[in-house]
Amino acid sequence: MTKQINKIQQRYDRIAPVYDLLENPMERMASSWREELLSFAKGAVLEVGVGTGKNLPYYPKDVSVTAIDFSRAMIARAADRKAQHGLSNVTLLEMDAQHLDFDDNTFDTVVSTCVFCSVPLPVAGLKEIHRVCKPDGKVLMLEHVRSEGPILGPLMDVLNPLPLHLYGANINRRTVDNLRRAGFRDIEVTNLWKDIIKRITAYP
Ligand SMILES: C[S@@+](CC[C@H](N)C(=O)[O-])C[C@H]1O[C@@H](n2cnc3c(N)ncnc32)[C@H](O)[C@@H]1O
Repeated sequence: MTKQINKIQQRYDRIAPVYDLLENPMERMASSWREELLSFAKGAVLEVGVGTGKNLPYYPKDVSVTAIDFSRAMIARAADRKAQHGLSNVTLLEMDAQHLDFDDNTFDTVVSTCVFCSVPLPVAGLKEIHRVCKPDGKVLMLEHVRSEGPILGPLMDVLNPLPLHLYGANINRRTVDNLRRAGFRDIEVTNLWKDIIKRITAYP
């Protein structure tokens, strides 16, 4: 599994210089979803898989954000964005979501956007989030998942090796099921685009 983790990490290191460019067509839609999602962030926030830091400008000014990613090259881009927007309330750390270096019950809000498609062991990562989120805290997610449509779902299974190889991202993850497996019981789900892009709020 370490080999698999390194492989995904290296794919994001490789793609970091062009990541924003590649994602640009999606971003027009995604920026309003990000803004709305992050308006619900409160207190001490952990962002998992910060990538190039696209969410950073949208956080309310009164939260403190600790943002982690296991790709050094992605974190470097996020640092540029942090500087560009003068965000003194943001701390960036290189860390694996599957082994979070934080005490239990540390954060009021945990955020992930388009991350659990690529975390190599998604349930392990979600269990870590469950552990570090305070019992009265919440998890805010924007994630694309496998469609449950009778044609689209199996098609996503067949096509999955392609994005996995190019990006390190799976298009057939069942993230809501994975949240349940990780111990989350109270989960609110809104479909933003078909049954594929979802806004998820989960309570530990
Ligand atoms: C598709 S990008 C999304 C980036 C950002 N959240 C966004 O919305 O633009 C996925 C990010 O998750 C990170 N990632 C994947 N698995 C991870 C893990 N196990 N630990 C930390 N970061 C991880 C990748 O390095 C990458 O930066």
